[in-house]
Amino acid sequence: MIEVAQGDITTLRVDAIVNAANETLLGGGGVDGAIHRAAGPALKEYCRHLGGCPVGEAKITPGFNLGAKWIVHTVGPVWSGGAQDEPALLSSCYENSLRLAFEKGVRTIAFPAISTGVYGYPKERAARVAIAEMRKYEDKFECIVACCFSQEDAELYAALLKMSL
Ligand code: AR6
Repeated sequence: MIEVAQGDITTLRVDAIVNAANETLLGGGGVDGAIHRAAGPALKEYCRHLGGCPVGEAKITPGFNLGAKWIVHTVGPVWSGGAQDEPALLSSCYENSLRLAFEKGVRTIAFPAISTGVYGYPKERAARVAIAEMRKYEDKFECIVACCFSQEDAELYAALLKMSL
């Protein structure tokens, strides 16, 4: 099942939440900042030993003070017009995150709209990529949540999900 939620991803009761991180994995603004604040300083300490993460790949850490047991950190592409392999890289973010979570026995997982904030990926194009990957893995999870920060994003996801049935 794929569900849409609206609000702060750190408050969701799921086994794993996904972080839209940067290649250092040492924190930043946006959803990354919110997750680091909610998880507490032990997360950054743990991440120091991971050696960063390339664009399109994913690494997993404990959730520390979060309700979620796991955090999957993935690094989305910076949008620079669409000819720099952005769609394939964004697709890889979702796929690698879902694969890693599945291997850890995660049953419920929530994603933010990776790359659509600071990294500037057009929202609808990004949502189409996200939903296509979520559909591929839908049967392997109890629930995959698309967590949207704004109501507008939540409406966009809901409409695209309906069309992808
Ligand atoms: N819960 C859910 N979604 C959120 C939250 C939240 N608490 N806060 C923001 N969003 P962004 P990116 C949404 O910029 O584009 C960081 O500095 C936001 O509205 O967080 O992948 C990293 O360290 C948007 O829809 O991530 C990187 O340097 C989506 O999350 C860089 O930003 C993604 O926005 C990554 O940029």
